[in-house]
Amino acid sequence: TIEDFTRIEDLADHVDETVTLKGWLHNQRGSGGIKFLILRDGSGFVQCVVPQDAVDADSWAVADDVRQEAALEITGSVSADERAPGGYELQVDAVERIGESGDYPVTPKEHGIDFLMEHRHLWLRSESQWAVMRIRNRIETAIHEFFQERGFLQTDAPILTGNAVEGTSTLFDLDYFDDESAYLTQSGQLHGEAMAMAYGKVYTFGPTFRAEKSATRRHLTEFWMIEPEMAFYDLEMNAQLAEDFVAHIVQAVLEDCEEELEALDRDTSALEQVETPFPRISYDEAVELLRSDETAEMIDERIEALNEEKAELLEEKEENQTRRGQAKKHVKRKIDAREIEINKRVDEIEEALRNLPDWKESAQTFEWGSDFGGDDETVLTWHFDRPVIVHRFPAEIKAFYMKRDPDDDRLAMGIDVLAPEGYGEIIGGGERATDLDFLKEQIEAHDLPEDVFDWYLDLRKFGSVPHSGFGLGLERTVSWITGRDHVRETIPFPRTIARLHP
Ligand code: 4AD
Ligand code: MG
Repeated sequence: TIEDFTRIEDLADHVDETVTLKGWLHNQRGSGGIKFLILRDGSGFVQCVVPQDAVDADSWAVADDVRQEAALEITGSVSADERAPGGYELQVDAVERIGESGDYPVTPKEHGIDFLMEHRHLWLRSESQWAVMRIRNRIETAIHEFFQERGFLQTDAPILTGNAVEGTSTLFDLDYFDDESAYLTQSGQLHGEAMAMAYGKVYTFGPTFRAEKSATRRHLTEFWMIEPEMAFYDLEMNAQLAEDFVAHIVQAVLEDCEEELEALDRDTSALEQVETPFPRISYDEAVELLRSDETAEMIDERIEALNEEKAELLEEKEENQTRRGQAKKHVKRKIDAREIEINKRVDEIEEALRNLPDWKESAQTFEWGSDFGGDDETVLTWHFDRPVIVHRFPAEIKAFYMKRDPDDDRLAMGIDVLAPEGYGEIIGGGERATDLDFLKEQIEAHDLPEDVFDWYLDLRKFGSVPHSGFGLGLERTVSWITGRDHVRETIPFPRTIARLHP
């Protein structure tokens, strides 16, 4: 092996052996002659027990005066301990400092989101962000497994392009030498279609860009998209692939990321229900459902339940305050920690209580022909216990390349997959138009310049076939599976209208 040290995630293979770990001090406690150092090395977290009388004076000096995020090399013997976080502990023989740390700004206490985003480069070291990035990584590998096992070729689309894909209002443009203008790609789809005509079944996996002018919990200006494109697939085949794909990803995370999900306090019961087939509803049915009495009642019930929960929490808080007076120090600490939790949940509830009446109004007055807003999608998903596939949208709200429904010309053969628990759209896709003249008409109707699409139109001139595909937004998927309420926590360095730094 290359490494002369052991990784925390491999400690299970070294019980009762002496190992050397290299990492950073995550947290510590201790008193008098004993210190408990929580070390993190990127693969996990482990408690290292340092009794003063078991180590030499140099080691004790380091352990006794060490700051959060100092880099350490720790040698000791591994013991299995069910109560220890991660299940193992290190009985330390020696501690050496590799790198000093100063007043580390991101302490284990609560910080506001703006502060955390400003310190994103350091916040990434926290346990919650460690868990999110590990799950993101597992999702990425699950994506490759899924497609590679099914005979897809990974073929990457260009990032600099001359074409708009998803409308012109969210294009990032830049000067491209002489007089040409170029864009950062909004989607690899059009090039994916060319590659599907070359290689049958392909997928692209790359960064995509949209100048999203509104700040929402679901929008980034730079995000990663996975876009399969399949020759000879119709809409239903596309939908089946999408549901198998999403179920595979969820399964992989449930199987391999138990520790990470637990670190995030993610209640996995809803994820465990993600089994195929997913329910399918047409856009028409979705509109009907939004406007139904059932939806109105569901929202009213939610409001009632939230009010009850809030009242209970406030009561608990008051009782805790009365107890706090005479309580011992460690009980006071527990009460204070619980108070932070209660306050956080009450804030969430109050925000929901402010929003829900508007959401109800928006659902009940939803008009056929409009696009679902994020809130409408949230409300829709509450009706289902697993992801739901919405299909056949009004053509006006969809892109130029969509095939029309042969049974109803007002409709485009699109599909969206909405994630449950209120997360909303994670996949958008559909069956592609194959007719050359229809596409030319659509390019004109969407005010797009035909000349930059000449290569795309060639695909309809030389062996045009029915084909379909879709795009999965990686960050929205990570956000749902990890239970984060905002996509900004699901990518190492998020880019939004308000943030280009760090
Ligand atoms: O629905 P969209 O716009 O579809 C397309 O781009 C198609 N060309 C894909 C295809 O058929 N090959 O985007 C697809 C997905 C969305 O469902 C969402 O998950 C994600 O990309 N997405 C975003 N994620 C984060 N921030 C944004 N601003 C996003 N816009 C779309
Ligand atoms: Mg979409």
